[in-house]
Amino acid sequence: MRIKVLTLTIILGLVSAGAVGWRASMAQEADYILAHADVFGKLRRPQVGFSHESHAKSLEKSGCGVCHHTPDDATGRLVYVEGEETGCKECHELQEEAGIPALREAFHGNCTTCHRNQIKSGNLESGPTTCGGCHRRS
Ligand code: HEC
Ligand code: HEC
Ligand code: HEC
Ligand code: HEC
Repeated sequence: MRIKVLTLTIILGLVSAGAVGWRASMAQEADYILAHADVFGKLRRPQVGFSHESHAKSLEKSGCGVCHHTPDDATGRLVYVEGEETGCKECHELQEEAGIPALREAFHGNCTTCHRNQIKSGNLESGPTTCGGCHRRS
């Protein structure tokens, strides 16, 4: 009996430790260096620095869904599901597939398009729109 209780305690301990580990691994970094050589192979352009923290702050009103999305099971439409944010490469691959843009186009379509729109709408605070503005040789 005591052994059983002990085993159960250990199992529950492991499960909750695992859950904590999983939650921690889901947390976003404050600053990312985007350099997905695992997808692109040898990078043709320098890596891209991306501050998650300052974007999340300045885009607080628009919400996380301006960048993170997942296809809705029923409709196939892109929706934002809180707590299910993942890296873009989980769905966007080297080449376009089944209507899902390639990873490079996913990044450019998201990052560059928003920076352009910010400038168009007269927002003084925007990000780079030129290749070298994002792909910086350090
Ligand atoms: C607003 C930022 C931004 C701008 C502007 C931008 N890129 Fe990118 N680009 C990215 C990001 C982010 C990635 C993904 C990098 C990664 O994860 O490795 C990327 C990926 C790429 C890749 C695939 C990875 C590689 O290095 O082989 C190429 C090629 C590329 N960009 C070329 C360009 C060119 C050419 C321009 C200008 C016409 C440009 N980019 C403008 C952000 C930008
Ligand atoms: C301007 C775009 C943008 C906004 C806004 C944004 N994120 Fe992100 N987020 C990213 C990018 C890009 C990555 C890194 C993706 C990669 O490595 O491919 C990321 C990574 C993450 C990760 C880590 C995912 C993983 O599996 O590594 C989490 C969690 C996350 N974001 C949550 C959030 C939450 C919560 C918000 C809103 C408060 C938010 N993000 C707002 C673009 C954004
Ligand atoms: C869970 C899967 C999934 C993840 C993760 C994902 N995407 Fe997508 N994304 C899709 C699918 C599916 C489409 C095509 C939807 C359509 O056109 O019907 C798409 C389309 C897009 C498009 C073109 C349509 C549009 O909304 O402008 C861009 C840009 C894009 N994704 C950027 C990103 C970025 C940036 C990330 C990471 C921060 C990301 N995606 C993460 C599944 C995903
Ligand atoms: C929905 C709009 C939006 C998206 C998407 C977005 N940005 Fe930005 N970006 C901004 C705004 C607004 C600023 C200026 C305010 C600030 O610095 O947060 C900015 C500033 C920047 C800057 C200059 C300031 C700094 O943080 O160094 C860089 C570099 C940058 N963005 C890169 C990126 C990259 C790379 C992506 C895609 C992974 C991206 N941005 C996606 C809106 C966006």
